[in-house]
Amino acid sequence: MFDSGVGGISVLHSACRMLDAPEYLYYADEAHAPYGKRDAKEVRAYATDITRFLIEQGADAIVIACNTATSAAVRQLREMFDLPIIGMEPAVKPALLLAHPKGRERVLVLATPLTIAEEKLERLLLRFDKDHRTDLLALPGLVDFAEKGIFEGDGVDAYLEEALSGIDRDCYAAVVPGCTHFLFFLPQLQRHFPEDCVFVDGNAGTVRHLAEVMHLRVREEKEAQAAKPKITYYVSGREVTKEEERQRFDALHARLDTIAALRE
Ligand code: DGL
Repeated sequence: MFDSGVGGISVLHSACRMLDAPEYLYYADEAHAPYGKRDAKEVRAYATDITRFLIEQGADAIVIACNTATSAAVRQLREMFDLPIIGMEPAVKPALLLAHPKGRERVLVLATPLTIAEEKLERLLLRFDKDHRTDLLALPGLVDFAEKGIFEGDGVDAYLEEALSGIDRDCYAAVVPGCTHFLFFLPQLQRHFPEDCVFVDGNAGTVRHLAEVMHLRVREEKEAQAAKPKITYYVSGREVTKEEERQRFDALHARLDTIAALRE
């Protein structure tokens, strides 16, 4: 699995809970994060190098645990490499299919500037949002906070207050966190929307897709516990071997455990 940084850990975390998979390699391209503010060509080049690297380390399948890199590179990666490549996209379709309370038919997709600018999202909306019920908002600041290891506090709250101030939050029945970094901020985000507003992300769908392709068993919901498969982390090509650096990744899993418990 790879991402520009720590966001894809939220996909890895879902995979650890949902699948009986023996081993993961996780690549955080922190030297080049954030991808969301780069152009598609650059992101495609990074994604290609990372995929090649992970294959050299023995990967049997690649999960692009990043909506931005998927929009920019999935097509090219599938053409270039002969192994399953699983991408991600904002969960617009399930969000639109939810039963929406009367007068609150809208869906808000939160993503990076590049995901919003790319044609992939435009095509997705053309296909599934015939009634134009979706609004798009870029929240690149959350990626910066996550990469600095800041997940809560006054800075995050002030950023969200400002970024969301221009929109009528009461008209949303569903919010789609369309960037894997945003899942770390779910409790902070939820506070800004009506209590019954549903947050729909694509992580579980991506993991189910991986299971299908790799013939892995998906655990029952009640068995989902943070199991401890073997995980090797890489930061922009360098294997993480120091214990204190590993602890940084472990702490992210712990944060996601807490968030998952709040959602249950
Ligand atoms: N985690 C990423 C995503 O899902 C990209 C964040 C970034 O590097 O801008 O879109």
